Amino acid sequence: MKTIRDVDVKDKIVLVRVDYNVPVEKGKVTSDLRIRASLPTINYLLENGAKRVVLISHLGRPEGKLTPETTLSPVAKALKKLMPEQKEIGFYSLPEKGEKINIPEFVKVAMLENLRTNEGEEANSEEFIKNIVDAVGAEVYVQDGFAVIHRAHASTDAVAKFLPVYAGLLLEKEITGLRAVLDNPTKPVLLIIGGAKVEDKQPLIDKFVDIADNVFVGGKIAADGYTSDNSKVIVADDFDENENGDKLDIGPVSTGKLSELINEANTIIWNGLLGYAEDPAYATSSTIAAELIGEKEGATTVICGGDTTGFVENMKKDHKNLEYTLVSTGGGAALEFLLGKKLPGLESIKQ
Ligand code: 3PG
Repeated sequence: MKTIRDVDVKDKIVLVRVDYNVPVEKGKVTSDLRIRASLPTINYLLENGAKRVVLISHLGRPEGKLTPETTLSPVAKALKKLMPEQKEIGFYSLPEKGEKINIPEFVKVAMLENLRTNEGEEANSEEFIKNIVDAVGAEVYVQDGFAVIHRAHASTDAVAKFLPVYAGLLLEKEITGLRAVLDNPTKPVLLIIGGAKVEDKQPLIDKFVDIADNVFVGGKIAADGYTSDNSKVIVADDFDENENGDKLDIGPVSTGKLSELINEANTIIWNGLLGYAEDPAYATSSTIAAELIGEKEGATTVICGGDTTGFVENMKKDHKNLEYTLVSTGGGAALEFLLGKKLPGLESIKQ
């Protein structure tokens, strides 16, 4: 994969696809994991003399409509807080046809409005993305929006027709981390599955019964009675219940079994919370798993899936000792990569 280390960006305007599809409430970003994750690439480009970095991203699924709820402007403000050394993070509307965006010399980092507020983005429109490339004078394109590489959209796919494409440092880190669990992982390999939607997780379980030594299933999937006749698959079978008898966390016996598996494993991939962890009363098993995995030394440990990564990131705030090989910024993208699917955003780098 060609990365930004393979291109001379000195004095060049670099268009960078990031994934700033982050939670925003009342005009404020409530989790900046994806924004922080994009900083190494932005800083690398600036340190290597790029004239300007122009960031493009989507936010939500606004279906072509720009409203106070669909603007990326809160994200530009959150980025500014993380880059206090920048005098300004320029924030610009998507260009009209043929319009040039005039960005002052001193603006080194600029961001454009939510790409999906124009229907051309999801339609993978060449005209739409070429207009952006021309409007900002981009000379190099960097794909660093790992979480969106499974979409064939204008900013992940059609863009490759107009600019030389390189992978950013986040994309490289994600791919390297995920490959480490797929290609010759150090045994024993443990897949931990939680969450609610069995139809989303079953393909991962099916794939990993070949790769993993053990697959542990908890979360609502287990509470709903998941069964498997594969001897590698261990399903939680005791639960903490509320007064209505709802099974909201896996119980102490299953958590103990999972702890043993974590302690033995040298490669761990965890996707999906083990209980209803939004309520601290039912976060016990997920907390124990996050601690045991994060305290392991020398193991490859990958956390993926939006809820799980959010939970782990929160825990890291209070437990600075927890470390993981990769806390993936991608939900659907990470799953599709693990399942070996073709990802348009990666294919465009290979072209
Ligand atoms: C994500 O949050 O998973 C990515 O940003 C992709 O978003 P999408 O599912 O709306 O394409």
